[in-house]
Amino acid sequence: MEYSFISTKRELTVRLGEFIAPKFVAGDVVLLEGDLGAGKTTLVGGVAKALKVDDDVISPTFNIMKCYFNGTLPLYHIDAYRLENQNIELGLDEYIEGNGVCFIEWPQYIKPLIPDERMSIKLVNIGGDQRKITLSSDTPRFVKIIKDVEGEF
Ligand SMILES: Nc1ncnc2c1ncn2[C@@H]1O[C@H](COP(=O)(O)OP(=O)(O)O)[C@@H](O)[C@H]1O
Ligand SMILES: [Mg+2]
Repeated sequence: MEYSFISTKRELTVRLGEFIAPKFVAGDVVLLEGDLGAGKTTLVGGVAKALKVDDDVISPTFNIMKCYFNGTLPLYHIDAYRLENQNIELGLDEYIEGNGVCFIEWPQYIKPLIPDERMSIKLVNIGGDQRKITLSSDTPRFVKIIKDVEGEF
């Protein structure tokens, strides 16, 4: 299942994050694909808002991972950009399919850690504030979430 729509402003991407957040359960993995500035971290900000995480979500690029435990579900936000296939043992696998929902920016750099059952969200800057957002998955429970998004966005 694949569904695309155009987000015309930052707030709409945040709203997508807020809309999907309550549908996730512990162990869920969401891959975020797209260039720098595409809106990946912005989307996670919307998720955090809906999960009632108090902290602002900041880009974890310099941290590799940020964990938020003060919301309704643990939220793990990984940004593998700086790992670039170095294959260093960081124990990230403990958080992927762990006790929370895990969002991963630049998943291509930690391929061996990515499970088959996952949802992918690709964001492409198509000019100005417009982002083409494509959600895809073969996993039935994520397909259902994507259908819900299709009905709403
Ligand atoms: N439609 C949109 N969706 C998401 N972000 C947008 C949109 N329009 C403009 N922006 C801006 O693009 C930037 C996206 O940054 P960020 O979410 O950190 O990207 P990434 O994590 O993909 O590098 C932010 O400055 C945001 O305000
Ligand atoms: Mg980012």
